[in-house]
Amino acid sequence: MERGAGGAVRHLLSVDDLSDQDIRDVFERATQISQGQKFSHPAPVATLFYEASTRTEISFLRAVEMVGGEAVRLNPERSSVTKGETPEETVRTLQALGIQTIVIRTSEPLLPKRLSGIGPSIVNAGDGCHEHPTQALLDVAAITAAKGTVKGLVVLIVGDHLHSRVTRSTSKLLLRLGARVILAGPPALLPQELASELGAEAARDWEPYLEEADVVMALRIQRERQGVSLVPDAAAYRRHYGITATRFFEGKNPFLLMHPGPANVGIEVDPEVVDHPRSLIRRQVALGVPIRAAVLSLVGEARS
Ligand code: CP
Repeated sequence: MERGAGGAVRHLLSVDDLSDQDIRDVFERATQISQGQKFSHPAPVATLFYEASTRTEISFLRAVEMVGGEAVRLNPERSSVTKGETPEETVRTLQALGIQTIVIRTSEPLLPKRLSGIGPSIVNAGDGCHEHPTQALLDVAAITAAKGTVKGLVVLIVGDHLHSRVTRSTSKLLLRLGARVILAGPPALLPQELASELGAEAARDWEPYLEEADVVMALRIQRERQGVSLVPDAAAYRRHYGITATRFFEGKNPFLLMHPGPANVGIEVDPEVVDHPRSLIRRQVALGVPIRAAVLSLVGEARS
């Protein structure tokens, strides 16, 4: 991992880029930023989202404002990308225009890494099925805010792991910080080797874990990444793997509910549970702003 003169992280491509101190710094700064303390990243930041987003792009734009920076939103559909401009050429062009940090979302795994040698700092806002490091940071921040720590907690993640960058980033960070992570979902969407690679457990018979999980995170069925639909029947998916009102309200264990969004409400989570006090879903979204502001301030320090 390339670091700036003060040792700060220069790019954020994967949760693996973060040292233990970086992780502590992000959480501490996010708290301080939420309390009104100023950290700066005055250099211009561009968002370059080749894939759709509501939460991540808007929270990065809000985060840039919070660290006193100027944000430029480049919409690839209205840029020279439509004329065949490559990502490398787009990054070089943004650099020539004075942009020093680029926040990238793409369907291409490892594209942010490939672009990180050009010059501007690159922050990965989700690269295909690979990683989504700021999502992992805000997920951990949401659990910590509710439970005080993630260490020793049981986190059950249910859904499409095969295509999930959230599984790859959030599980990794939770495991590193001492949580027990159990992955569950349709067998076609839960490769055993992925669970083993991450150091997580894979549960075929997952419902008993609802009685011991501190946190249950539902994942989105990622139809856009499934060449052929691996979930042909949404109603059957809800019945077998949805966090239904019955599963949420009728068990004895008052687990907390999470979903990185965007949720298919009525399939992965029932409408009644989304805004329940035991749901962290809206808090996850809100925490995206201070967490991303903290990340931008650290990246900015590496450049100064
Ligand atoms: N969780 C997440 O990445 O949401 P968006 O796709 O809306 O950014």
